[in-house]
Amino acid sequence: MMSIDDKTREAAGFLSKELKDADRTGIVLGSGLGGLADEIQETKVWDFGEIPHFPVSSVEGHRGQLIAGSLCGVEVLAMAGRVHFYEGFTMKEVSFPVRVMGAMGVKNIIITNAGGAANSRMTPGDIALIEDHINLMGDNPLRGSPDFTDLTSVYSDTLKELARRAAENKGIELKSGVYVGNQGPSYETPAEVRMARIMGGDIVGMSTVPEVITASSCGMSVLGLSMITNMAAGITGEKLSHREVIATTESAQEEFKTLVREILALM
Ligand code: HPA
Repeated sequence: MMSIDDKTREAAGFLSKELKDADRTGIVLGSGLGGLADEIQETKVWDFGEIPHFPVSSVEGHRGQLIAGSLCGVEVLAMAGRVHFYEGFTMKEVSFPVRVMGAMGVKNIIITNAGGAANSRMTPGDIALIEDHINLMGDNPLRGSPDFTDLTSVYSDTLKELARRAAENKGIELKSGVYVGNQGPSYETPAEVRMARIMGGDIVGMSTVPEVITASSCGMSVLGLSMITNMAAGITGEKLSHREVIATTESAQEEFKTLVREILALM
């Protein structure tokens, strides 16, 4: 069986062969946030299935493309869509594309997601800077290797400051909070959301944590952004629906794109 390092080298070699040398910024665009990828210029586009060892989503309609090109003057390597732990992939599989970005020399990565607000300071449509995370997914992408990666400053202070400046420049109110990564695919119970709050969490979601830990292990600086799509279970008493989550990402997407474009312009 091939080691993960060999698989990473093979995938990175496959992609690098088709690209000129450049310093690239990584971007992971979560569910419903992939629209920004359509603005990347002079692109090379691969379906995940074309890239050696890349995980391919089993969820119908989940876009899974890697796009290289230029966005706001920055060379980017962007994932439009991702696979999730809840689909049954291992954490190593989920975060494999980020590992490949690391092997391709990516130093800064913007990781985005859709999340529910456990903190009533936030409302659907808000964008929140991820200050830190709590991993309740019950696994770790570095499991199996003695990789004691330090996560003290896993979300880069420099990139947070840059995101705050970008939001200010564009008149966007940027919320912030601690992201709690749950396994899913069911949404949380109200009791779990209360627990998340007591533990210091503000946003609940089902992604991001594996990629962030892996990015940090690869030496990258990470910026995390959550699009708040709904109030988490029990906050308002209303039921959650996946359709509503997707509808909110769509309606709030323009502001999100404006923010990410400005962040790139300031990089
Ligand atoms: N919980 C977990 N994941 C989510 C939510 C939520 O409320 N909203 C969007 N992704």
